Amino acid sequence: MARRKKIYEGKAKTLYEGPEPGTIVQYFKDDATAFNAEKHDVIEGKGVLNNILSEFFMLGLAQIGVPTHFLKRLNMREQLVRSCEIIPLEVIVRNYAAGSISKRLGIDEGTQLPRPVVEYCYKDDALGDPLVTEEHIAAFGWASQQDMDDILSLALRVNDFLSGVFLAVGIRLVDFKIEIGRIYEGDFQRLVIADEISPDSCRLWDIKTGQKLDKDVFRRDLGSLTDAYSEVARRLGVMPNNPPAPGKPTLVN
Ligand code: TMP
Repeated sequence: MARRKKIYEGKAKTLYEGPEPGTIVQYFKDDATAFNAEKHDVIEGKGVLNNILSEFFMLGLAQIGVPTHFLKRLNMREQLVRSCEIIPLEVIVRNYAAGSISKRLGIDEGTQLPRPVVEYCYKDDALGDPLVTEEHIAAFGWASQQDMDDILSLALRVNDFLSGVFLAVGIRLVDFKIEIGRIYEGDFQRLVIADEISPDSCRLWDIKTGQKLDKDVFRRDLGSLTDAYSEVARRLGVMPNNPPAPGKPTLVN
């Protein structure tokens, strides 16, 4: 295989130069990290599951008119995406209290919030991705006011879409994180959903039992992460190499 130019290696993905200008190959690794990489493990098959799940969510978002960086899945571990400039913010949407908001504000995990709460963290591993306000974002020029209006509206549309998709398969979307990219087209820029959407970046609880089906299984040592992510993929009907059930029609694509 011809060697490719590596552009960036992150904790869970590696980016390579794509075949056409303006494209990037996103390779999903099996590495799992938590607490700013203090905890690390290799979870066999995680990359394959996240690649397929992220494809599923990005394609769904495109169907409802939410722009994303996703172009196509190339194989079990790689997808082709549009190259974009990542806005240095983690955009978090919360429907129920859990994780850092529970600690910060003393709200019991699982409490439904009065409305979706959107938070921004500055993407900087050395600083531990600190929570920031729109005031910091504007003052330091990470995004303009117009960008912030667009980011809020994108984040809430993604929340409504994902909440509905998960609800349909008996899963509660507690919270999630997305990243936003800028794509320049001539004199204009467009904001798109970038990075990935997967159980690494969401909190997902079984509606009936409360069982965790996301990266908290790894963060909190609650069992097999592969089993949890496989369950999400199975419910959404995107389990890789899923043999069709006997007597059911097969979807060929
Ligand atoms: P938090 O409760 O730890 O702030 O996490 C909120 C959501 O963001 C949760 O769904 C997990 C996700 N997340 C990431 O995707 N990357 C991160 O580095 C962190 C800290 C959280």
